[in-house]
Amino acid sequence: MGAEVVGPDPRQNGAGRAGAPLLRVSDLFVNYGQVEALHGISLDVYPGEVVAIIGSNGAGKSTTMRAISGMLVPRAGRVVFDGRDVTGLPSHEIVRLGLVHVPEGRQIFANQSVRDNLMLGAFQQPRSRAAETAERLRRELDRFPVLRERQDQRAGTLSGGEQQMLAISRGLMARPKLLLLDEPSMGLAPLLVRQVAETVRQLNSEGVTILLVEQLAMMALSVAHRAYVIQNGVVRIEGPSAGLARNPEVIRAYLGGAAQQVEAQPPAG
Ligand SMILES: Nc1ncnc2c1ncn2[C@@H]1O[C@H](COP(=O)(O)OP(=O)(O)OP(=O)(O)O)[C@@H](O)[C@H]1O
Ligand SMILES: [Mg+2]
Repeated sequence: MGAEVVGPDPRQNGAGRAGAPLLRVSDLFVNYGQVEALHGISLDVYPGEVVAIIGSNGAGKSTTMRAISGMLVPRAGRVVFDGRDVTGLPSHEIVRLGLVHVPEGRQIFANQSVRDNLMLGAFQQPRSRAAETAERLRRELDRFPVLRERQDQRAGTLSGGEQQMLAISRGLMARPKLLLLDEPSMGLAPLLVRQVAETVRQLNSEGVTILLVEQLAMMALSVAHRAYVIQNGVVRIEGPSAGLARNPEVIRAYLGGAAQQVEAQPPAG
């Protein structure tokens, strides 16, 4: 076969695709009341990968993320994380296993300080790990110095880009093995979109496996090793990002628009 992969190929490292997936989603069906939003979604994420889900408004991207992280209970199908069936488990238990969801729209606590928002990210961690939590807080404030500068400010006073950094940072406080990022670039100016893409690359190089949802397909394909295109609640196309970026159907539907803000760049090595 020899599908071309741009950038680091996770299949080539020992923990890569040759082994067991870190996340396996099988034939997921989700309803909102009487309305079926997902009609049998299956996807895998292997350790060390960045995997993207792209698709237009209302395709089912966020619903997929919510069903994976336990915010929604699927009507049918299975979610296996790190060898454990987590289907239907409450989200706080799933977080504790290392599957952390940074939701669409950031969902920070506007009236709490930046530091308190970060500490809330660690609240599922055992109290015995207080020293480790303090060390993680220090690392997160190093990662985004603007958050250190503003740590005593109310989170609601941050700009959109800073709030996104805070949301990601809060997720990292929970020590994820797998980080779900739902539209981290939403509403951000092109320069900040590039910064988010760089953050995703950086986290991945630190060993965090990432499942990324994006409407900005070019941004997603520029940082992901593989991607799934979701349309109307089903997976329509899947494969290595480089192949998808050349796929005429993907180009026509998702890459042709003027809305694309990030030029194609292979994932950083
Ligand atoms: N809370 C809800 N109640 C009822 N229907 C919902 C709810 N959330 C989403 N839906 C519907 O489910 C379908 C999938 O929505 P979802 O939010 O997963 O799409 P998405 O791909 O994340 O879209 P977007 O790019 O706009 O975020 C849509 O038809 C949407 O209208
Ligand atoms: Mg969404």
